[in-house]
Amino acid sequence: MPDSRRTRPMPNALFELTEGYSQVLALLDQSVAMRRVVDEVPDLTGVDVAWVGEPDGEDRLVLGHTVNARTPAVDGLVVPTGCGLGGQVMLRRSPLWVSDYRRSDTITHHFNAQAEIEGLGAMIAVPVVHEGRLLGVLYGSNRETSPFGDRTAESLQKAASRAAAAAVVAERARHAAEIAVHEERRRLALELHDTVGAMLFSIGAGIRTLTGELPAGDAVYARLTELEEQAVQAAAALRVSLHALHAPPEEVALGVALRGHCRAFQERTGVIARLIIVTEVPGLPPATIKALADATREALLNVEKHARARSVVVSVFTHSGGVCVTIADDGVGLPPGDRPPGGLGLATMAERLERVGGEAQVGRNEDGGVSVQAWVPT
Ligand SMILES: Nc1ncnc2c1ncn2[C@@H]1O[C@H](COP(=O)(O)OP(=O)(O)OP(=O)(O)O)[C@@H](O)[C@H]1O
Ligand SMILES: [Mg+2]
Repeated sequence: MPDSRRTRPMPNALFELTEGYSQVLALLDQSVAMRRVVDEVPDLTGVDVAWVGEPDGEDRLVLGHTVNARTPAVDGLVVPTGCGLGGQVMLRRSPLWVSDYRRSDTITHHFNAQAEIEGLGAMIAVPVVHEGRLLGVLYGSNRETSPFGDRTAESLQKAASRAAAAAVVAERARHAAEIAVHEERRRLALELHDTVGAMLFSIGAGIRTLTGELPAGDAVYARLTELEEQAVQAAAALRVSLHALHAPPEEVALGVALRGHCRAFQERTGVIARLIIVTEVPGLPPATIKALADATREALLNVEKHARARSVVVSVFTHSGGVCVTIADDGVGLPPGDRPPGGLGLATMAERLERVGGEAQVGRNEDGGVSVQAWVPT
């Protein structure tokens, strides 16, 4: 008999799932996230047409994602800094509007032709900014020539804040995915090194031993020497590929190293270890990355040995002119006393960080467990 629970159609659940999934996907893709925000601008602000300018390098915007446009005149327009309305907003980093775009004397008129083709009258633009970084310019325009009220400007600014939040979430998600990919590549490289690399070495060594045992002038000798040469060449080719697989780009190198330690810790202990990159982190010199990664490894080892924790969170963020990695567990906490007793781990961690100008701090966190903070200057 068929299982009715399995065969019963569930259109609503499926629909909700697809909807939810597409919303999550929108969060992961910066361009889709922007589009979602622009789509809502006419309803939220009352403007007739909306679009967004996304930065293309430092000094220009590319316009796109038009909503309610009649022509393709605006899509793909390149706006250099200072030109038109959006170019002014790029410079000033503050909202600006004109009641008659084509006749305003406060902006340049490089794009009058496009405004005329599209039939645009009044225009307003606000910057999409996160921590001083320009992520785009959000535009609204009316077919009529008339001033904008405070409400339109406020609503557009709200939409711009949401666009900034969406863009940052998408950026973080992309960064996390990139870290995951490079960490996996690194893991594969190590695995290949240990398996295929070791096998090629023993094949070469085996052939060398055989050749040594053959009587001089043996017919098989030349053939075996050729095989040995091929094994050497294969090992060299493997080494080149492993180097490429193993070295992550500078901007994700710290994340990759930390994720590797989290994964190894989780595999060893079964305790969940999560890596959270809280803010954008600048590329760091290899010695600094090593000091932070070594500190994280020791802190995780301490969690394994002393904490009896259920989970650990490793977070990375910029702080006081540097980068901070915090390893926080929810375990039993430090033993009583001013200084944690014990071995060399924490002291060595502090020394290594000091050598690159940084420092370590250990304390109790709000879960009652231990937080280790490793900080390095940038
Ligand atoms: N996550 C933690 N939870 C509970 N206690 C901790 C934690 N981390 C450190 N401690 C306490 O701090 C002490 C000092 O840690 P430290 O790493 O310096 O030495 P150790 O781990 O005992 O020895 P070693 O690192 O030299 O092998 C530990 O012995 C332990 O009592
Ligand atoms: Mg230790």
